[in-house]
Amino acid sequence: SNVYVLNGPNLNLLGTREPEIYGSDTLDDIAGLLEDRAKELGLAIDMRQSNHEGHLIDWMHEAQARGAKAVLLNAGAYTHTSIALHDCIKSIRTPVIEVHLSNPHKREEFRHLSYVGQAAKGTIAGFGALSYLLALEAAARL
Ligand code: DQA
Repeated sequence: SNVYVLNGPNLNLLGTREPEIYGSDTLDDIAGLLEDRAKELGLAIDMRQSNHEGHLIDWMHEAQARGAKAVLLNAGAYTHTSIALHDCIKSIRTPVIEVHLSNPHKREEFRHLSYVGQAAKGTIAGFGALSYLLALEAAARL
């Protein structure tokens, strides 16, 4: 079955974007890691990125409509602003796992609130690209 991996704003710039915070892996590198592990787990990955909030919402609706096993969601800064994403996660039965490369709790105060985390099944943050792999392990066991 399918696991959607949805990435929000500025994550297309991974690799060159503040590498001291986010690491040097690109989103394509992370997709490769996930695909390798997904194969071993008997899962398929559908990896996407958008800088537009509504696309993330449309894709979560699609994940539910297509019977996806789970959604891994790194909503970038929308994590801290978007009641629409919060409501979307609550509106679907598909489990959503919040993912972050960095640990928002040890960064600026404005990153401490997560509207995504208040609706998600669980959160994995602070392990760089490994956060995504750990979230995939969790999804596989749901
Ligand atoms: C992020 C953390 C967010 O606070 C930030 O806005 C991002 C990336 C992370 O993966 O660490 O864009 O989601």
